Amino acid sequence: MSTPHKTAATAVPLHPLLAGRWSPRGLDPQHELTQHQLTALLEAARWAPSASNTQPWRFAVALRGTEEHAAVLDALVGFNRAWAHAASALVVAAAETHTPEGAERRWAVYDTGQAVAHLSVQAEVEGLAVHQMGGFDSERIAALLPEGVTPLVVLAIGRRDDTAELPEPLAGREAAARDRLPLEALQLPLGVPASV
Ligand SMILES: Cc1cc2nc3c(=O)[nH]c(=O)nc-3n(C[C@H](O)[C@H](O)[C@H](O)COP(=O)(O)O)c2cc1C
Repeated sequence: MSTPHKTAATAVPLHPLLAGRWSPRGLDPQHELTQHQLTALLEAARWAPSASNTQPWRFAVALRGTEEHAAVLDALVGFNRAWAHAASALVVAAAETHTPEGAERRWAVYDTGQAVAHLSVQAEVEGLAVHQMGGFDSERIAALLPEGVTPLVVLAIGRRDDTAELPEPLAGREAAARDRLPLEALQLPLGVPASV
């Protein structure tokens, strides 16, 4: 599954599952998730750390070929619909941002992102790719979900297909190398107050 031009260029070697992970749009429209794969992804999310072990993440899974998949796809922006239709599963990741008593769960969104990160790495182990999407109609996705959860991102999960034909500008982006800010740019100085 490794794609040399997509592999992260790093100052020191990373685990290949991290260095080789990327977000493809070319997905195999025939591929079907096995129950084992789906369970492995959800287990990876389930065992992520969270503030006070509150586990605020929730996932709604729609397999390709179902009405639910069509409904989630329909709520994506056109840019995403153009390729995400081939996803073996579209998964809505949502957070319970408040307790049943109404208190705010301050880290719910942070925790849910972390659960998705764990799920994404497990997907690489399973020979799958995850492409997260923020481009969707929030109200339409929320209308598909039970009350009390906030949809954060839709995951297109499937098997990468390097031969998939994508319209421009998607094809160009698929072929482009990945890039990041330099390592120095994400490091902050710590301002220690002068002692009196
Ligand atoms: C919260 C979030 C929202 C995103 N939304 C979209 C989206 O709507 N459509 C899309 O094609 N990619 C989307 N992406 C994918 C990012 O563009 C991609 O992760 C980023 O460019 C880095 O590329 P890489 O994952 O291949 O390293 C999203 C990623 C995240 C984490």
